[in-house]
Amino acid sequence: MTNYSIASVKSRWILDSRGNPTLETQVKTESGIMATAAVPSGASKGEYEALELRDGGKQFHGMGVTKAISNVNEIIAPRIKGMDVRDQKALDDAMIALDGTPNKSKLGANAILSVSLAASRLAAKAQNLELHTWISKLYSTREILPVPFSNVLNGGEHAGNDLSIQEFMLVPLGLKNFSTAIEAVSEVYASLKTFVTKKYGPVAKNVGDEGGVAPPMSKTSEALSALEDAIQEAGYTEGEIRLAMDAASSTFYANKKYKIDGKLISPEELFDYWKSIIKDYKIFSLEDPFEQNDFASTAKLTKATKPLQIVGDDLFVTQLARLRKGVEEGAANALLLKVNQIGTLSEAVQAGLFAIKSSYSVMVSHRSGETTDDFIADLAVGLGTGQIKTGAPARGERVSKYNRLLRIEEDTGLAYAGPSLAQKS
Ligand code: PGA
Ligand code: ZN
Repeated sequence: MTNYSIASVKSRWILDSRGNPTLETQVKTESGIMATAAVPSGASKGEYEALELRDGGKQFHGMGVTKAISNVNEIIAPRIKGMDVRDQKALDDAMIALDGTPNKSKLGANAILSVSLAASRLAAKAQNLELHTWISKLYSTREILPVPFSNVLNGGEHAGNDLSIQEFMLVPLGLKNFSTAIEAVSEVYASLKTFVTKKYGPVAKNVGDEGGVAPPMSKTSEALSALEDAIQEAGYTEGEIRLAMDAASSTFYANKKYKIDGKLISPEELFDYWKSIIKDYKIFSLEDPFEQNDFASTAKLTKATKPLQIVGDDLFVTQLARLRKGVEEGAANALLLKVNQIGTLSEAVQAGLFAIKSSYSVMVSHRSGETTDDFIADLAVGLGTGQIKTGAPARGERVSKYNRLLRIEEDTGLAYAGPSLAQKS
């Protein structure tokens, strides 16, 4: 019997923030230490993401995860029993081999990821380490508290309004530490709620999937102006809080045209549109400005708007091969790192480390469907990415990550990534 060898693996379903079932998996060592992890789920998923296995059929309108759960309990568990929980790579490789498909469609990326994350949390616990400390030891990275990219106004597929753009974010990079950054975000969020309620009536109090307000707006400039007003109203300056957007533009692209601000425009027109928006609102970061297969337009915009941060989410899907292509072609200059897009911690970190080596920035990200699992808070700190995207400063599944980061800051006194990020702009 050792402290580190896996004795049992057991998965069950719990609900995510949209009310859909998802996996929560518990891994136990022979000495009786245990840890769990739960899996998130996206709405505006990239075409090239690893497969999230759902049952289909009537139960949960097809969203059931009983097959994925039995894949953990019946197939993965016997294979990894007895393995050393500290050898993350060996564990993940064993599950990848067991699945045997390029997109984890046999066992399900959700099944595999639940084990991968629970195992790393267990490895930390068995060694009496905080998860972020273990991650930084395992990958030889330098810990730092990330700048939150806080999505306070929702559109696209996350809201019931006419905004094409999915996320409008506050970037508190000019604040002195993580807690004052969250304080600022929370104050601006409150000012924004008051502002939109006055302008659009009580309907504007409704929030979207990621907890941001979702007023009945239809134009990008309307949303960005509201954010600027709220920042000012709350008493912050442009140097303290910048703006960022996730266009998630594949969601408003069809037949070679983009539908934005009520108009259908070509990729060339969208290019000009971005250039003027970026300038008018001093945007710090823009995610997925073109649809997920358009590396060329993304590269052109990256070059034309330096030093603007251009993030690849659906473009890269946390996949090394697609990121390599991006680096070769100069498409984007930052990777959005979502563990469930690829299905194991090892592969997600491999993509993240490759991005850093290629002078790309990395932003660790939640999904629009989340649980209160706060794994990504530790992942961002441990890997030292300096950026995290985890929604509005509201709703339990969003604040669980912010609250974990507040605790880490208080316990460790680690530095805040704001100043180094500010230098990049
Ligand atoms: P999703 O969106 O989690 O709904 O896919 C998040 C994003 O596009 O960043
Ligand atoms: Zn995105």
